[in-house]
Amino acid sequence: MIEKKAVGEAAAQYVKDGMVVGLGTGSTVYYTIQKVGEYVKEGMNIRAIPTSEETKMLALDLNIPLVTFAEVNHLDVVIDGADEVDCHFALTKGGGGALLREKLIADATDLFIVVADSSKMVEKLGKFPLPVEVTPFSWERTARQIEELGSIATRRLNGTEPYISDNGNYILDCSFEVIENPEELSQKLNRIPGVVENGLFVNMAKIVFTVEEGKVVRKMK
Ligand code: A5P
Repeated sequence: MIEKKAVGEAAAQYVKDGMVVGLGTGSTVYYTIQKVGEYVKEGMNIRAIPTSEETKMLALDLNIPLVTFAEVNHLDVVIDGADEVDCHFALTKGGGGALLREKLIADATDLFIVVADSSKMVEKLGKFPLPVEVTPFSWERTARQIEELGSIATRRLNGTEPYISDNGNYILDCSFEVIENPEELSQKLNRIPGVVENGLFVNMAKIVFTVEEGKVVRKMK
């Protein structure tokens, strides 16, 4: 919790007056969003696009002005959490179920910043099961196709019911153990017709805020 707050708040320094900002989802970027809310309260003029309904509610609570892609095409900065970050800044995302909007929003900026406590930093991705968003129709077959790539795919539940994403889809949590080539796996997954998007974010993050030896560090690509 202390690390999440420290890295979340540190990344907020990248939000400046006049910017269009992408706001991520999760318990780490929560602290970034709180800081951005303080900036707005102090008079900073920004507009934001949230990566989930949860973040939208939080931003509205903090009076952060929101926009949509109907009005903007490019974001000045996007700040988001991650479930795992490897040494090349490849990420696993989607633990909170928001991976599709997170990827759409990260794709719309040249400055994608990740906030991740030290527990998220790994040599290779894979220990955290990879979230994959799939269409409910034929999801069983899609799951079998994903398993043919070397994983065990488990449909996410919300209690006893299937978890439904903000986009009306299912999430499959896919255990690959070790992901040797995230870019290749991402491409293979997205070639399966029932896959809407997968939680691998490769060559997207430019800056990672994390904690090393008890101090917040900013790692640049
Ligand atoms: C949301 O779908 C995820 O991609 C989150 O960004 C990720 O799970 C990190 O969340 P925490 O900051 O809560 O660990």
